[in-house]
Amino acid sequence: MLSPTSENNTDKNRLHYDKRYAKINISKILKIVEHVDEYLDDVTVVDTSWVCMYSGNFREQLKGKKILELGCGNCYNVAVMAALGAEVFANDISDKSGDIIEALNVSVNFKFPIKYLQGDFLKIELMPNDFDLVVGKAFLHHLTHEQEHEFMKKIVANLKPEGGARFVEPAVNNLFLDKLRWMISVPGRPSSMNIKKFKEWQANDPHPIRNNSGKHYKALGYSSFKEVTIHSIGSLERFHRLFPKAKWNRKFRYRALKLEQLLPKFIQFELARTQTIIYEFPRKSNSEISK
Ligand SMILES: C[S@@+](CC[C@H](N)C(=O)[O-])C[C@H]1O[C@@H](n2cnc3c(N)ncnc32)[C@H](O)[C@@H]1O
Repeated sequence: MLSPTSENNTDKNRLHYDKRYAKINISKILKIVEHVDEYLDDVTVVDTSWVCMYSGNFREQLKGKKILELGCGNCYNVAVMAALGAEVFANDISDKSGDIIEALNVSVNFKFPIKYLQGDFLKIELMPNDFDLVVGKAFLHHLTHEQEHEFMKKIVANLKPEGGARFVEPAVNNLFLDKLRWMISVPGRPSSMNIKKFKEWQANDPHPIRNNSGKHYKALGYSSFKEVTIHSIGSLERFHRLFPKAKWNRKFRYRALKLEQLLPKFIQFELARTQTIIYEFPRKSNSEISK
């Protein structure tokens, strides 16, 4: 049984995303599915969450794999993975994701129609040792540490012994930079210096206050897996937010992502804004679990 803080966090997420996904029109997803390689060629060199999710040769690894996506949300990524030939199971706390998947399965002749697992992942009955891969895109940071710990235990139980997990999460590796970021107001979020308004905003925000550093995700991974790899990006790319949303802004992001690879590793890590978290070889038996 989870604490009231965690239960409240889940309720907040459900409410927030039910509202947001109610407006999703699947025609954009259908276009993506129809031109999936073209779409990935574009987004995987500019849009950080896609760059991270498809880094390495991830695209080529998916065909025929049994994959569970947690927090599938707007369902773009589950649709892409299904279009690439994976057998995809999708889970989200929002019922709206299920509606999107139902509509996608009606319109697209996927080799394996996407299966929706509705509701709280921790309460769903699944076959042990069943999945090749568990993925999440911008998902873990919506869980409290308590929830995350329970999710990891269940993920490990449901992965095949040679299976793994891949998450893409915001990277918060420098607290000074993070404080500065909160001070800058963006549409829909007041500056943290406006204490009253910021507190009001925070009360409805679906992000719990938690640790999103690479160090945290490394320690989390080693508690349940034998191998952990973290790649952080965005140290220069992140500055695109200071510029207008013009066409050249996208070019800036593309170039910045290439250029930042020349920076010393510790600077790339400190200034990163997004990270790929790869967990391999689940610790299945009690003797393999690190305390
Ligand atoms: C930032 S969104 C990311 C959605 C999608 N993966 C994407 O890349 O756009 C986070 C998602 O996690 C879902 N979520 C939050 N808490 C959850 C929980 N306990 N179980 C399942 N899904 C949850 C939310 O409903 C939301 O769809």
